[in-house]
Amino acid sequence: MVIENLTSKIDLIIASQNSREEKLQEICNYLKSEVPYYDWVGFYFKNGDKEELKLAQYAGEETEHTIIPFGKGICGQVAVSNENFVVQDVSEQDNYISCGWKVKSEIVIPIFMNGENIGQIDIDSHTLNPFSEEDERLLEYICKEITVFL
Ligand code: SME
Repeated sequence: MVIENLTSKIDLIIASQNSREEKLQEICNYLKSEVPYYDWVGFYFKNGDKEELKLAQYAGEETEHTIIPFGKGICGQVAVSNENFVVQDVSEQDNYISCGWKVKSEIVIPIFMNGENIGQIDIDSHTLNPFSEEDERLLEYICKEITVFL
């Protein structure tokens, strides 16, 4: 993966005149189509005042996990830890919400607005051990840059 190639297109999506929803959807579609081991890409955001995450835009198979309580699963843990969570093998996680037998690994990166954890980008992969530092840097970049239009 060449991060620079991906981030230049991401920059264009962010700078476009599209709505917030369209931009988030385009980012999901783009990442899923460009990175072979990104099989599901989605954004979750804090649901108002509630201690839960709500699914926003995503690319990939439909999921029943549209609401995730804080603390539950990989996503819910990131909502409270405020830290990246890289899971190279989901079978080793006790606190994990399965989105189907095909998913082997997952990466979740929090989104901060004025220092507050407001949501996250979540990626599921059908490949074991696919993620490197590069994925974290790419996704951190996206989570930082999108705050200009959130
Ligand atoms: N696996 C996630 C649930 C959300 S799906 O991956 C879309 C988790 O454990 O939080």
